[in-house]
Parts: sequence; structure tokens; C-alpha cells
Amino acid sequence: MEGIIVIKCGGSTMEQLPDTFFQAIAKLQGEGKPIVIVHGGGPAINGMLDKVQITPQFVDGLRVTCEDTLRVVEMVLCGSINKALVRRLTQAGAKAWGASGIDGQTLIAEKTTKPLGWVGEVKQADTTIPLAILGQGYVPVIAPLSVSADGSDAFNVNADIAAGAIAASLSAEKLVVVTDVPGILRPLPDGSKELVQETSADEIHQMIADGVITGGMLPKVQAALDALSQGVNQVVICRGTAEDLLAVSAGEAVGTTVRMNVIQPQ
Ligand SMILES: Nc1ncnc2c1ncn2[C@@H]1O[C@H](COP(=O)(O)OP(=O)(O)OP(=O)(O)O)[C@@H](O)[C@H]1O
Ligand SMILES: [Mg+2]
Repeated sequence: MEGIIVIKCGGSTMEQLPDTFFQAIAKLQGEGKPIVIVHGGGPAINGMLDKVQITPQFVDGLRVTCEDTLRVVEMVLCGSINKALVRRLTQAGAKAWGASGIDGQTLIAEKTTKPLGWVGEVKQADTTIPLAILGQGYVPVIAPLSVSADGSDAFNVNADIAAGAIAASLSAEKLVVVTDVPGILRPLPDGSKELVQETSADEIHQMIADGVITGGMLPKVQAALDALSQGVNQVVICRGTAEDLLAVSAGEAVGTTVRMNVIQPQ
């Protein structure tokens, strides 16, 4: 399918997303634009972990996932957050259908060898079912859980990584990573921060080495570069406003556009 936009909705910003953001998705859907949503849910997961007295732990922006944490992640992401998003889209006039990477084995993973517990390394994204849902005129809303090839285990996957893998499998036109910051920010000598409007793989590696890109931004840039290397045309990291979303869809510059390599002027 041509012209697919994959939108990753960060858990960091989910509660702040205005009705107009969902109305913009409904508008794009009405114009025949195929849209897929992959969502996170960090703060809601942390809130539930707090209730069951588990302290959240992160390594390089990735959640350390013990067995109890995995149950909470599954419950919150596939349950409350996924259904809340489907309801908001429905209220805004869009047609939406929620599932997770476990359903239809959309995200097949193996347990990571890093000391992160029940976190999956995505081995294969199979978007047969999301495509069928798109074909019926619905927005697939996907929670970033993944499943082992034999179906025996579920794994947590960072939502940025899940969105990148799904965008690549769909050969999406754009991956739009919506978060709680306007894009990649870089400190200036006077202590303020500037928005990086366009960046490349080399520059990203430098910003990681310099400690400019840390925590939750790390999986975003990794997912961005992976998606670009697998045929996604454009990756944008921006805020969740209707204006930004409609501008990205129209090909206008907002937030940070990630490129494999910046083309040098002749
Ligand atoms: N250079 C940077 N520019 C902007 N944000 C950065 C940078 N380095 C690290 N960050 C952090 O990345 C955070 C965004 O990632 P985070 O994982 O917290 O949110 P999310 O991915 O939108 O939500 P979720 O993980 O729940 O899906 C920002 O709030 C900021 O603290
Ligand atoms: Mg995150």
C-alpha cells in the first residue's frame, strides 16, 4: 500500500494529546491516507508499577522487565492505553482497531541477551493483519508487545523500536515519532537549547558520544536509522499537535527530520 504514515505516540505525551490531534488523524483518514499508530505508555506503566510496589528501572532508555513487570506492561499497554487510544480516535471521528504485536505475530522477537529481562529483540515484523485492517479503512493501533516464534513467550519492546520495525515492514512513506519534546534538542554555549531541524547518522553518533542524546531519545534515533536503512522514506521526531501532524503529512518541515546522511551542497 502506498503512502503509509506510521505514527508513534509516546506514552510521555499521551495524556496531553489534544482532541485536535486525533481529529487531524480522522481528517487524513477521510482523505484516504493510510495511518498506523504504535504507542508507548511509560508513565502509565510506572504508575501501575508503583501501585504494586515495583521500582521502574531503565538502561539506555530501555525498561528492565522482570516477570511481574512484563505482566504489568502487557496489562497497561494492551489493555488501558490501547483501548483509550481507540476510543479517542473513535470520538474524533476516525475508525480504529486496536491490537498488539503479539496478535497475528506482527512482532516476532527473541529474548534479548542484554541484562534487561523480558525484553524482545525484534527478528521479524509481519504486517499482514495491520495491512488488512488498513484495507478495511481502519487505523491499526498497535501496542509494542512481541511474541516468540512458537508463541510461548511474550516480550516487552520499546515502542520506538516496535514502530520502526513496523514502518519498515510496511515500507511506510513516513515514520512520525510524537513525543514530549519538540525534537532532538542540543545545548548552546549560553545554556539554552536549540532544536536540531535536520540530522544524519554521523551527527547522531556524535551527539550520542557527546552525551547530548540520552535516555528515551536513544531508542528513537536507533529506530529512525533502522527504519531509514530499511526503506522508510522519512523519519520525523516532533510534538503531538494537529498542526505538526498535518504539516508532516503535507511534507513541510517540523521537529527534527532524520536522514541517513545530510546531502552536502555542491
Ligand atoms: N537530545 C535530546 N533532545 C530531546 N530529548 C532528549 C534528548 N536526550 C534525551 N532526551 C529525553 O528523551 C525523552 C523522550 O523519550 P521518552 O522515552 O521519555 O518518551 P516517549 O518515548 O515519548 O514515551 P514512551 O517511552 O512512554 O513511549 C525526552 O523527554 C527527554 O527527556
Ligand atoms: Mg520512550
